[in-house]
Amino acid sequence: MGFFVMTNGLTSDALVLFGATGDLARRKIFPALYAMLQHGRTLPPIVCVAYSPGWDLEKVRAHAHDGIAQFGGGVDEAVFRNLSSLLTYINGDYEDPATFEELRRALEGRSRPLHYFAIPPSMFPVVVRGLASANCTENARVVVEKPFGRDLESARSLNATLYEALPESSIFRIDHYLGKEAVQNILYFRFANSFLEPIWNRNHIRQIQITMAESIGVEGRGRFYDSVGAIRDVLQNHLLQVLALLAMEPPLGTSAEAIRDEQAKLLKAIRPLEPGDIVRGQYEGYRNEEGVARGSDTETFTAVRFFVDSWRWAGVPFIVRTGKKLPITTTEIRAEFQLPPQRVFALSEAGPLATNYLRMRLSPTVSIALGARTKNAGDRMVGRPVELYVCNNHPDEMSAYERLLGDALDGEAMLFARQDAVEASWNVVEAVLSHRDPAYTYEAGTWGPQEADLLLAGGRWHNPRPPQG
Ligand code: BG6
Repeated sequence: MGFFVMTNGLTSDALVLFGATGDLARRKIFPALYAMLQHGRTLPPIVCVAYSPGWDLEKVRAHAHDGIAQFGGGVDEAVFRNLSSLLTYINGDYEDPATFEELRRALEGRSRPLHYFAIPPSMFPVVVRGLASANCTENARVVVEKPFGRDLESARSLNATLYEALPESSIFRIDHYLGKEAVQNILYFRFANSFLEPIWNRNHIRQIQITMAESIGVEGRGRFYDSVGAIRDVLQNHLLQVLALLAMEPPLGTSAEAIRDEQAKLLKAIRPLEPGDIVRGQYEGYRNEEGVARGSDTETFTAVRFFVDSWRWAGVPFIVRTGKKLPITTTEIRAEFQLPPQRVFALSEAGPLATNYLRMRLSPTVSIALGARTKNAGDRMVGRPVELYVCNNHPDEMSAYERLLGDALDGEAMLFARQDAVEASWNVVEAVLSHRDPAYTYEAGTWGPQEADLLLAGGRWHNPRPPQG
């Protein structure tokens, strides 16, 4: 559940899972459904749909079991039996109207289905039209996965297809970062405290860095990834959403729309990128990954300098980077405050005076730290950097998919991307999707190509420390 409960109707009374035999269902959706049952939530019947010759209900159940065992942290067989009993399966071609006729029969007696599109975006229009012509869109909601389109134009046309059958309030565009506990905490920390707001602006902040690092490579997703790259895979969605929550104005009220209005406003204020604002990289060996084109120029790393053209943030660089095969897996924000105006205590055993900073680690641990200096005991005015640190981990934390799926079933829209926000994000990256320098090669296990330093104008990257324990 989001911060603020804002439902647009009753809870869905059926879940239709398109793409039930795929990887997303196995890794994320079945484990999320299982966790919901484990946490005591009641689920409606789940109609699995896919076009996978040779599959039947038993095979889908085994697929779900396997996903929960591998990605859900183990299986309690009693909970799994409960999930299993809710499943039915339709094996059918999405191009064939008979598939949707069968679905309509399976939904007999159900009036508010939630359709989850865990399928390639190229299939969305086919499925939406199939659903509409079989009368399966009335009172329905749909969940669509990111990336929503490949650029501004395709996002608009995809949306137009959805609007043929559904209103905006029934469309739930998933960006799983919005469902993460730590990402919600950005908003909470900013607006549940009063000390930060007076200094959270260009007068006091000199730079914000965001690093989303992954030590893994493309992990068997070569074909998909090669057609997408880091800009479309995570920058346009996850990272711009994080930036929006960090930089947006306080919402006027607590409704989902009040928050989404501010997110969208902020995204619209980000200056569209130009080729000089971005450096792209590709890890050595990427072109040998299965499914990747031998001469591929797809980026597995990107570093970007954003500016937000608003009164609050004018002139403050937001430096964002993300990459595969980097030294560690972590996502971290670091906001640097201005230096003290005068060097009263220039003497330091740890080098020149460092700036104060606010560090928010979003994964794998959830923590917040304030970087400051304190004096060393003794008669000299010499100090050291310290962190005031709080760790916010909860052992039984809800996964992002569990939270988002629950919200979609309940019609709570706050943690989903609205179309104007999606379009604003595409607009930010649009120019560099086609006009850009070739990707620089970097060695796996490093922090990306050195060319990324050029974005810092003499500053330096703050490489997140490895997670402890
Ligand atoms: C997905 C991307 O949306 O997010 C993946 O497609 C990426 O490439 C993943 O690995 C990262 O998510 P998380 O939750 O592991 O940080």
